[in-house]
Amino acid sequence: MKKIVFLMMAALLVGACGNPERERREALRARAQQTLDFAVEQGRRMAESLIDRPGRLPKSIRDGKLEETSSAGWVSGFFPGELWYLYEYSSDEELRRYAEEYTSRVEDQQYTTDNHDVGFMIFCSFGNGWRVTGNEAYLDVIRTASNSLCTRFNPVTRTIRSWDTHSWSPWNYAVIIDNMMNLEMLMWSADRFGEERFREIAVSHADATMKNHFRPDFSSYHVVSYDTVTGGVEVRQTSQGYSDESAWARGQAWGLYGYTMMYRFTHDARYLEQAKHIARFLLDHKNLPEDKIPYWDFDAPDIPDALRDVSAGAIICSALLELSDYVQEPLRDEYMAVAERQIEALCSPDYLAGEGENCNFLLKHGVGNHPKGTEIDVPLSYADYYFVEALMRYLEKTK
Ligand code: GLY
Repeated sequence: MKKIVFLMMAALLVGACGNPERERREALRARAQQTLDFAVEQGRRMAESLIDRPGRLPKSIRDGKLEETSSAGWVSGFFPGELWYLYEYSSDEELRRYAEEYTSRVEDQQYTTDNHDVGFMIFCSFGNGWRVTGNEAYLDVIRTASNSLCTRFNPVTRTIRSWDTHSWSPWNYAVIIDNMMNLEMLMWSADRFGEERFREIAVSHADATMKNHFRPDFSSYHVVSYDTVTGGVEVRQTSQGYSDESAWARGQAWGLYGYTMMYRFTHDARYLEQAKHIARFLLDHKNLPEDKIPYWDFDAPDIPDALRDVSAGAIICSALLELSDYVQEPLRDEYMAVAERQIEALCSPDYLAGEGENCNFLLKHGVGNHPKGTEIDVPLSYADYYFVEALMRYLEKTK
């Protein structure tokens, strides 16, 4: 009897004190939900604001006004993709109609063969559209886009060429770390359409990038230009980072996300190890701020006064949430703790816009191309996309 009374009292005590860890997570889940509710309304306002401008999609803010893009801009697929996530979250039929409309605005990009961004454009929009609705018509677009991307594969360099040679891209055969992200469409298409060639090209590109883009500390160069006769590396430089030898924050984020995604499709331990090494570089970096939202470059000379890049923060957050599924303790907890700190920060007024502010983007404080002086401390459609993805992943993981 005494023992039962003791156990009842102990249970009451535990109930009263609660479980601080569970309470903390519940509070963050509630914050993530509130933020997604806000994103639904902000996304609706954004969709309304461009509905009478056929073919136009949101990009950023310039001179205080909404900056738009045509379907040809590399960022065109992010807003339709965000709308698909928000429709998935809310089941709001108006958002579905907007998602369909903005997705249709990038359809012509399935034929893009003059750059690597076709993966971003088509897989964020049509890929999510198919995932959420199962609309079979979207499959043809994804398959065509995958074929378009493969036209840029060179068997000598064993990579997909990111950029052709331009005034702003003086390299002979430029491959940028960002290109890892476009492999997701190929890996998915290989499974869906049974085209082994898509997988072979993606794996070849990921392997060459692992060999040639990374430094001994697992930070990555932005641009590697290849010699198309020997297949070797010509130069390693930057386009959007502070310097050739610096660690441009978004580039590190693309690499982390890219190798995590490659592990999802292949279960190849080499990709998992690569993702873990990149995470180690990021999480142990002396210049990663307490709120875990990186400066635009880990080696920016004016740290701690350098600008943050919220897009890098959102991409890293989404990637860590996935990567934490593939590792054991104590790494799992460590990755989750960083991702949760990032969610906390991104859902705070430090980074999150108010209702109807920020030209209806969600996040403030992104950096697009610092060396060029464009998109400095502004919202970016891809920051919003990966932020919403991260919130969705978080709610799914912690339910
Ligand atoms: N893919 C271009 C960028 O990350 O800015």
